[in-house]
Amino acid sequence: MLNPVVAIDGPAASGKSTVARKLAALLNFTYVDTGAMYRAFAWLALEQNLDPADRVSVSGLVERAKFDLTVSGGAVRMALDGTDPAPFIRSERINAAVSKIAAIPELRERLVIEQRKLRNLAPLVMEGRDIGTVVFTDTVFKFFLDADPAVRASRRRQQGQTDAVAARDQADAARAAAPLTMAADAIPVDATYDDADQIAAKILQICRDRGLSAAKVEAL
Ligand code: DC
Repeated sequence: MLNPVVAIDGPAASGKSTVARKLAALLNFTYVDTGAMYRAFAWLALEQNLDPADRVSVSGLVERAKFDLTVSGGAVRMALDGTDPAPFIRSERINAAVSKIAAIPELRERLVIEQRKLRNLAPLVMEGRDIGTVVFTDTVFKFFLDADPAVRASRRRQQGQTDAVAARDQADAARAAAPLTMAADAIPVDATYDDADQIAAKILQICRDRGLSAAKVEAL
């Protein structure tokens, strides 16, 4: 039996990470942040003085790099060339580079394979840009979170980050490979006004209505 997957896509700073994390805790599922994987490769490219927009350099890096994902205690740990990149991936430098590297098809292919493998290890709440449209098209638990652009930009500022969210969304939506778009069968969720707890509760209810395993939900 395949493990269930809840797919949560949406633009930058739509609140999807907070909601996905809460939902995973409520369901006792493993939370997967796929943006962190693209950020990790952006970090490694910059470490090696590579241009994150250069397809030839990045596809070489994708071939050379050793990338391992492990699941423990409801979380995923990354190791990229033997280093946990997590402490290095939330900087303004990475915010500025990540959409460029995320447009490179060879990187996307590699990461999609790794993301799909995680389903063999645990039930998942996976968030990103292409989870419902590419990675797990078959799941019936598919959501697209969005929020007013001004609200999203102010969220990032409150987190103390400079992040051109509108420009990043524009780049993510305009790329040829797996552009940011809502899957035809995804449920849109407006995250402008509700807080993360309310949104997670709403999504949980929809998942239950769609038959998400009562046994998992009873772990509440
Ligand atoms: O979720 P985030 O802001 O940390 O994502 C960083 C970037 O990675 C985002 O600008 C686009 C890219 N990304 C992607 O292309 N596909 C995903 N599944 C997740 C993120």
